[in-house]
Amino acid sequence: MAESGDPTSDTINALMAEDRVFPPPDSFKNDALVTGTFLYDEASQDDEAFWARQAAELVDWDTEWDTILDWQLPDAKWFVGGTLNVAHNCLDRHVAAGRGDKVAIHWEGEPGDTRTITYAELLEEVCRFANALKGLGVEAGDRINIYLPMIPEAAVAMLACARIGAVHSVVFGGFSSQSLADRINDAEAKVLITADGGYRRGAVFPLKPAADEAIAETPSIEHVVVVQRGGNDVDMVDGRDHWYHELIGGASSECPAEPFDAEHLLFLLYTSGTTGRPKGIMHTTGGYLTHVTYTHKYVFDLHPETDVYWCTADVGWITGHSYIVYGPLSNGATQVMYEGVPNYPGNDRFWEIVAKYGVTIFYTAPTAIRTFMKWGDAEPAKHDLSSLRVLGTVGEPINPEAWMWYHEHIGGGRCPIVDTWWQTETGGMMISPLPGATTTKPGSATFPLPGVRAEIVDDDANRIDVGGGYLTLTRPWPGMLRGIWGDPQRFRDTYWSRFPDRYFAGDGAKLDDDGYLWLLGRVDDVMNVSGHRISTTEVESALVSHPSVAEAAVVGATDDTTGQAIFAYVILRGDSDADEDVLRAHVAEEIGAIAKPKRIFLTPDLPKTRSGKIMRRLLRDVAEGRNIGDTTTLADASIVDELQARATSSDD
Ligand code: PRX
Repeated sequence: MAESGDPTSDTINALMAEDRVFPPPDSFKNDALVTGTFLYDEASQDDEAFWARQAAELVDWDTEWDTILDWQLPDAKWFVGGTLNVAHNCLDRHVAAGRGDKVAIHWEGEPGDTRTITYAELLEEVCRFANALKGLGVEAGDRINIYLPMIPEAAVAMLACARIGAVHSVVFGGFSSQSLADRINDAEAKVLITADGGYRRGAVFPLKPAADEAIAETPSIEHVVVVQRGGNDVDMVDGRDHWYHELIGGASSECPAEPFDAEHLLFLLYTSGTTGRPKGIMHTTGGYLTHVTYTHKYVFDLHPETDVYWCTADVGWITGHSYIVYGPLSNGATQVMYEGVPNYPGNDRFWEIVAKYGVTIFYTAPTAIRTFMKWGDAEPAKHDLSSLRVLGTVGEPINPEAWMWYHEHIGGGRCPIVDTWWQTETGGMMISPLPGATTTKPGSATFPLPGVRAEIVDDDANRIDVGGGYLTLTRPWPGMLRGIWGDPQRFRDTYWSRFPDRYFAGDGAKLDDDGYLWLLGRVDDVMNVSGHRISTTEVESALVSHPSVAEAAVVGATDDTTGQAIFAYVILRGDSDADEDVLRAHVAEEIGAIAKPKRIFLTPDLPKTRSGKIMRRLLRDVAEGRNIGDTTTLADASIVDELQARATSSDD
């Protein structure tokens, strides 16, 4: 362990030098929901009572809970005995309060087509689709897979499931048919909701054909619902495949929002762990909704009457679940949803959208910010970005230069930046500034949010007050994962066994002299590429599944734009002639384009210890162009010289 995010690495020294501070501007504080420390003070006195107050104030319940928290490590139950409906909270209650005409989603298609959807319209469509799902035999507890582009129907599908208690499992549209099939089979999903295709970089990318390939291997799927978006030709199988527009056209718009238990399973979302098999992270109803509603409101200082919020994530990731669908809609926010890439038709598409809709709160990933930096200051300068007032980042550590660029060129020097640390497993934000209350430092996620307790510990679980170590969470929180689908032992082993009585996040972090937290990246074999988690083993398994490959080792090497880039070292079988391109395409087919290695080096051997373990640290050194230190534990030291020579010659 302790490799990529090694808490003793040079990163700490580099960050130590960061002493710029940014207190919230007075003009911002004047209207901020939280200034000062009152929320922190309240939560530190009694965190359970604090969360209960949030649950009572921010969420509508059909039945009050009788116990706030039942905690038997690693199993948490929040708001025990309470019942509620998530779709009611995201839709009906806003309409009932007279806000049916408020815009829920300003949707911007990549080709430039748009849709404006009010809360009343969204409610109606969700009800129709919920009825359509019922008509296909879907019942509470059934798993439904969703494989869609960034179109409003993705949110409709998720909310329709929530309305009737079905469990959604969204698979990012960029994943391959094989990845989709694996996830469908693990969850034993009954229905798949997909589209003919979607727009990306000016062209239609087909989804239904990939879905068809997947379904050929998924015996549990009984029905496929297809949204028409790309207009590309698709095959429809009679009796199994249904057009979305035909289903909702024939469905009633009346669908009561039945209450479900606070611990009813709301969704599964698969994420990479340290082994080849992705894990189905389980999130439930009451605690999750409380957590995402609370964080979306306070971390972004949301004023729902006036703000226009935009999160650039895809609904296929946890950020899209928590901060496009559930958090913002539960808070009755107006948001922008965009289908495509940031550089179509030009490199200023995002800034054009900000100006067009008057976006006030903008949430994106550091990898995107670094890309915008590369495209140059002139792109954002073409547009009026003065509506912006809060900026956020998520997914990976943000380097201070990118933070400063974001602050100056997007935020005009006036917008607080919230660097939000959290995970698929945490459900919602955990460590982040509050924009009206926290003095920020570029590159630091600052402090645990009110209600959250985090500590840095060393290898022996001793608490560290200043310096680097492993990030742990010491108290349960409402949005926490409730398990790994079908694998309780893996749940316990992965998160609750490394350190007693605490959750181990898998990240390295450091506390500076002022108590600020600095995230240092993963300490396990999980890579973070453009803010997406991919395990080294997953890519290795994909490579080895190619008939030409005998052995493969994969590492994440630091990359200026994507945070980390995937480097693979491959030993081919005797007489095979596969090349780098063939193998990269194979990985894309096995997992998806996001997992394609940036470089694949074909090698006759791999550096191994005498006990036969691949020395990934050495491979990472080679990939990052560092001088190799001590190789005395290597079985064959000459292989490193050879790899280094190859790496250098391929740079030319
Ligand atoms: O390593 C941390 C990094 O992303 C991981 C979680 O990835 P995922 O479950 O895909 O969720 C991403 C979106 C919440 C973490 O273990 N990470 C996330 N946010 C930050 C971060 N690293 C540093 N700073 C952040 N703000």
